[in-house]
Amino acid sequence: MSTNNPEKLSILVLHGPNLNMLGVREPTIYGSATLESINDLLNDKAAALSCVLSIIQSNQEGVLVDAIQSALSQHQGILINAGAYTHTSVAIRDALSAVKIPTVEVHLSNIYQREEFRHHSYIAPVAIGQISGFGANSYLLGLEGLYHHLSTS
Ligand code: DQA
Repeated sequence: MSTNNPEKLSILVLHGPNLNMLGVREPTIYGSATLESINDLLNDKAAALSCVLSIIQSNQEGVLVDAIQSALSQHQGILINAGAYTHTSVAIRDALSAVKIPTVEVHLSNIYQREEFRHHSYIAPVAIGQISGFGANSYLLGLEGLYHHLSTS
Protein backbone atom coordinates (compact mmCIF):
# COMPACT_ATOMS: atom_id res chain seq x y z
CA MET A 1 0.00 0.00 0.00
CA SER A 2 1.06 3.59 -0.55
CA THR A 3 3.44 5.04 1.99
CA ASN A 4 1.53 8.34 1.69
CA ASN A 5 -1.96 6.99 2.11
CA PRO A 6 -2.23 3.43 3.36
CA GLU A 7 -5.88 3.13 2.29
CA LYS A 8 -5.38 3.94 -1.37
CA LEU A 9 -3.64 2.04 -4.13
CA SER A 10 -0.66 3.99 -5.42
CA ILE A 11 0.23 3.81 -9.11
CA LEU A 12 3.38 5.03 -10.83
CA VAL A 13 2.72 6.55 -14.26
CA LEU A 14 5.77 6.66 -16.54
CA HIS A 15 5.94 8.61 -19.78
CA GLY A 16 9.01 7.97 -21.92
CA PRO A 17 10.92 10.00 -24.49
CA ASN A 18 9.29 12.68 -26.63
CA LEU A 19 5.95 12.40 -24.86
CA ASN A 20 6.68 15.86 -23.39
CA MET A 21 6.23 17.03 -27.01
CA LEU A 22 2.59 15.88 -27.23
CA GLY A 23 0.36 18.56 -28.70
CA VAL A 24 3.19 19.67 -31.01
CA ARG A 25 4.52 16.29 -32.07
CA GLU A 26 2.92 14.67 -35.16
CA PRO A 27 -0.66 15.49 -34.12
CA THR A 28 -2.12 13.37 -36.93
CA ILE A 29 -0.57 10.32 -35.22
CA TYR A 30 -0.62 11.28 -31.53
CA GLY A 31 -3.52 13.74 -31.34
CA SER A 32 -3.55 17.32 -30.10
CA ALA A 33 -3.76 16.69 -26.34
CA THR A 34 -0.72 17.89 -24.39
CA LEU A 35 0.97 15.70 -21.78
CA GLU A 36 -0.29 18.08 -19.11
CA SER A 37 -3.90 17.60 -20.24
CA ILE A 38 -3.44 13.81 -20.30
CA ASN A 39 -2.04 13.96 -16.76
CA ASP A 40 -5.07 16.03 -15.68
CA LEU A 41 -7.40 13.39 -17.16
CA LEU A 42 -5.43 10.65 -15.39
CA ASN A 43 -5.63 12.46 -12.05
CA ASP A 44 -9.40 12.94 -12.49
CA LYS A 45 -9.81 9.22 -13.23
CA ALA A 46 -7.59 8.31 -10.26
CA ALA A 47 -9.72 10.50 -7.97
CA ALA A 48 -12.86 8.76 -9.25
CA LEU A 49 -11.30 5.35 -8.65
CA SER A 50 -9.88 6.48 -5.33
CA CYS A 51 -6.24 5.71 -6.07
CA VAL A 52 -3.21 8.00 -6.10
CA LEU A 53 -0.76 8.61 -8.95
CA SER A 54 2.90 9.58 -9.12
CA ILE A 55 3.64 10.80 -12.62
CA ILE A 56 7.10 11.04 -14.19
CA GLN A 57 8.16 11.90 -17.75
CA SER A 58 11.74 11.40 -18.88
CA ASN A 59 13.63 11.34 -22.14
CA GLN A 60 16.33 9.24 -20.48
CA GLU A 61 16.29 5.48 -20.21
CA GLY A 62 18.26 5.39 -16.94
CA VAL A 63 15.85 7.79 -15.24
CA LEU A 64 12.98 5.47 -16.15
CA VAL A 65 14.92 2.44 -14.87
CA ASP A 66 15.65 4.27 -11.59
CA ALA A 67 11.96 5.20 -11.22
CA ILE A 68 10.91 1.57 -11.73
CA GLN A 69 13.44 0.36 -9.15
CA SER A 70 12.29 3.01 -6.67
CA ALA A 71 8.69 1.92 -7.12
CA LEU A 72 9.39 -1.17 -5.04
CA SER A 73 7.53 -0.87 -1.73
CA GLN A 74 6.11 2.53 -2.82
CA HIS A 75 3.65 1.70 -5.59
CA GLN A 76 1.38 -1.25 -6.26
CA GLY A 77 1.11 -0.80 -10.03
CA ILE A 78 2.88 0.80 -12.98
CA LEU A 79 1.24 2.38 -16.03
CA ILE A 80 3.86 2.95 -18.71
CA ASN A 81 4.13 4.48 -22.15
CA ALA A 82 7.83 3.92 -22.79
CA GLY A 83 7.63 5.64 -26.19
CA ALA A 84 10.43 4.51 -28.50
CA TYR A 85 12.11 2.62 -25.62
CA THR A 86 9.23 0.15 -25.94
CA HIS A 87 10.95 -1.20 -29.04
CA THR A 88 14.57 -1.02 -27.86
CA SER A 89 14.98 -1.20 -24.10
CA VAL A 90 16.03 -4.46 -22.52
CA ALA A 91 16.99 -2.35 -19.45
CA ILE A 92 13.41 -1.13 -18.86
CA ARG A 93 12.04 -4.64 -19.35
CA ASP A 94 14.62 -6.06 -16.92
CA ALA A 95 13.72 -3.42 -14.32
CA LEU A 96 10.03 -4.33 -14.62
CA SER A 97 10.89 -8.03 -14.31
CA ALA A 98 13.06 -7.30 -11.27
CA VAL A 99 10.44 -5.40 -9.27
CA LYS A 100 7.54 -7.66 -10.36
CA ILE A 101 5.05 -4.81 -9.95
CA PRO A 102 1.93 -5.37 -12.09
CA THR A 103 2.38 -3.19 -15.17
CA VAL A 104 0.10 -2.06 -17.98
CA GLU A 105 1.69 -0.83 -21.21
CA VAL A 106 -0.10 1.89 -23.17
CA HIS A 107 0.35 3.62 -26.52
CA LEU A 108 -1.54 6.51 -28.03
CA SER A 109 -1.13 5.16 -31.55
CA ASN A 110 -1.86 1.64 -32.75
CA ILE A 111 1.73 0.43 -32.95
CA TYR A 112 0.66 -2.61 -35.02
CA GLN A 113 -0.67 -0.40 -37.84
CA ARG A 114 2.62 1.48 -38.08
CA GLU A 115 6.19 0.72 -39.19
CA GLU A 116 7.33 -2.83 -38.59
CA PHE A 117 9.99 -1.78 -36.04
CA ARG A 118 7.15 -0.59 -33.78
CA HIS A 119 5.41 -3.98 -33.83
CA HIS A 120 7.75 -5.50 -31.28
CA SER A 121 7.55 -4.51 -27.62
CA TYR A 122 10.17 -5.59 -25.09
CA ILE A 123 7.70 -4.64 -22.36
CA ALA A 124 4.62 -6.57 -23.45
CA PRO A 125 5.87 -10.01 -22.28
CA VAL A 126 6.39 -8.71 -18.73
CA ALA A 127 3.19 -6.61 -18.59
CA ILE A 128 -0.23 -7.85 -17.52
CA GLY A 129 -1.71 -6.17 -20.60
CA GLN A 130 -1.29 -3.62 -23.35
CA ILE A 131 -3.60 -0.92 -24.73
CA SER A 132 -2.71 0.66 -28.05
CA GLY A 133 -4.49 2.92 -30.49
CA PHE A 134 -7.06 4.90 -28.51
CA GLY A 135 -5.17 8.19 -28.27
CA ALA A 136 -5.23 9.82 -24.84
CA ASN A 137 -7.97 7.38 -23.91
CA SER A 138 -5.41 4.53 -23.98
CA TYR A 139 -4.04 5.90 -20.71
CA LEU A 140 -7.47 6.03 -19.06
CA LEU A 141 -8.37 2.53 -20.25
CA GLY A 142 -4.98 1.32 -19.05
CA LEU A 143 -5.45 2.90 -15.64
CA GLU A 144 -8.91 1.34 -15.30
CA GLY A 145 -7.60 -2.10 -16.29
CA LEU A 146 -4.66 -1.84 -13.90
CA TYR A 147 -6.83 -0.61 -11.04
CA HIS A 148 -9.31 -3.43 -11.63
CA HIS A 149 -6.48 -5.99 -11.68
CA LEU A 150 -4.96 -4.64 -8.45
CA SER A 151 -8.21 -4.37 -6.58
CA THR A 152 -9.40 -7.86 -7.50
CA SER A 153 -6.15 -9.81 -7.08
C1 DQA B 1 4.15 5.56 -28.77
C2 DQA B 1 4.50 4.68 -29.98
C3 DQA B 1 6.01 4.54 -30.13
O1 DQA B 1 6.31 3.73 -31.26
C4 DQA B 1 6.65 5.90 -30.33
O2 DQA B 1 8.05 5.78 -30.40
C5 DQA B 1 6.25 6.87 -29.27
C6 DQA B 1 4.85 6.92 -28.86
C7 DQA B 1 2.65 5.83 -28.67
O3 DQA B 1 2.20 6.25 -27.60
O4 DQA B 1 1.90 5.65 -29.65
O5 DQA B 1 7.03 7.69 -28.83
O6 DQA B 1 4.55 4.90 -27.59
